Amino acid sequence: MNIAVYPGSFDPVTNGHLDIIKRASDIFDKVIISILENNSKEPLFTVEERIELLKRSTSDIQNVVIDSFSGLLVNFLREKNARVIIKGLRAVSDFEYEFQMALMNSKLAPEIETLFMMTSSKYSYLSSSIVKEVAKHGGSLNELVPEEIVGEIYKKVN
Ligand code: PNS
Repeated sequence: MNIAVYPGSFDPVTNGHLDIIKRASDIFDKVIISILENNSKEPLFTVEERIELLKRSTSDIQNVVIDSFSGLLVNFLREKNARVIIKGLRAVSDFEYEFQMALMNSKLAPEIETLFMMTSSKYSYLSSSIVKEVAKHGGSLNELVPEEIVGEIYKKVN
């Protein structure tokens, strides 16, 4: 089975993430979306809440599972028998950091490959941080995040 892992903070999941998830699920037998537990960033949603939001947003995709991990990403992939890390790239500004991480992951685990997917242009401006900013100030989240989770985001920021 060809298993890929799509790691991230997903605080919260956006339509940009969902675009990558759908496209990756067409290519791989199974996609494990995995939330980093010990992130130094102060999150809006707990890991359990983010898992729930991701489950709701991907309920129509059969070959996707939601999980979480702590420690090194490559160790999580080895545990799950996965060989590919999926990363979304929005702009050139993402590249330098992602390039560094891909090279370090490859140094730590040469058998694991990082696959970059370009985000669709209509989502290239989207990020979880900008979604939180819009929600905090009462702006519309229409087309920014999956419909199923809009209410949860407003509830949390208020
Ligand atoms: O959505 P994010 O916050 O950009 O995701 C970053 C993430 C979780 C993919 C990255 O921080 C990560 O993989 N962290 C785990 C520690 C690790 O393995 N780092 C890379 C090699 S040092």
